[in-house]
Amino acid sequence: MKIKTSDFVTSAVAPSQYPEDMLPEVALVGRSNVGKSSTINTMLGRKKLARISATPGKTRTINFFIINKEFYLVDLPGYGYAKVSKTEKASWGKTMETYLASRKNLQEVILLVDIRHEPTNDDKMMYDWLKHFGYGSRVIATKLDKITRSQLQKNLKIIRQKLEMTKEDRILPVSSLKKQGVEEVWNSIEELFIE
Ligand code: GTP
Ligand code: MG
Repeated sequence: MKIKTSDFVTSAVAPSQYPEDMLPEVALVGRSNVGKSSTINTMLGRKKLARISATPGKTRTINFFIINKEFYLVDLPGYGYAKVSKTEKASWGKTMETYLASRKNLQEVILLVDIRHEPTNDDKMMYDWLKHFGYGSRVIATKLDKITRSQLQKNLKIIRQKLEMTKEDRILPVSSLKKQGVEEVWNSIEELFIE
């Protein structure tokens, strides 16, 4: 896919704040710090469009980025970050759930997991939930630069097994640091619009 333009459009915590044009949306979900915002920046070839941080819990709102004036990439707040209050956790949960369960023009939700580790129980729960709603045919495995080539196949297998991915489900290894795997992610997203 050729990225002609990419722009930040808006941040939202409630449906009244979502974009109104109802263009197709592709959202990225995953644990806090897994690299959702970094992946978006790398995909767009922009360093700071989505804000990133070494501290988990950086993204706290739903952020909409418009691509080629045709569709949105959506950056969501991460889950599983221990150092926030219960009230805050509940409100993030609600924000996420409302968006994921009610957004009609949401075309696909891509789960991101860290390629180094077996997905957590939270990841599995999220993935089951995505599958239930007809999403999750693609999973991005982040931080590819942190493992050796010889570990790759073994780690991908562990991720597939834990999430109980089917043969048809695709797993896309990405390194935002080394800018690897991004083309494959775009090709996979492009399929959504051709199908
Ligand atoms: P929240 O917004 O808190 O949910 O986190 P996030 O999933 O958006 O993660 P973010 O993109 O902010 O990245 C978290 C940390 O991981 C940052 O320090 C990034 O630099 C680092 N990081 C992200 N992707 C990669 C990668 O591919 N390789 C390496 N080595 N580090 C990465
Ligand atoms: Mg983020």
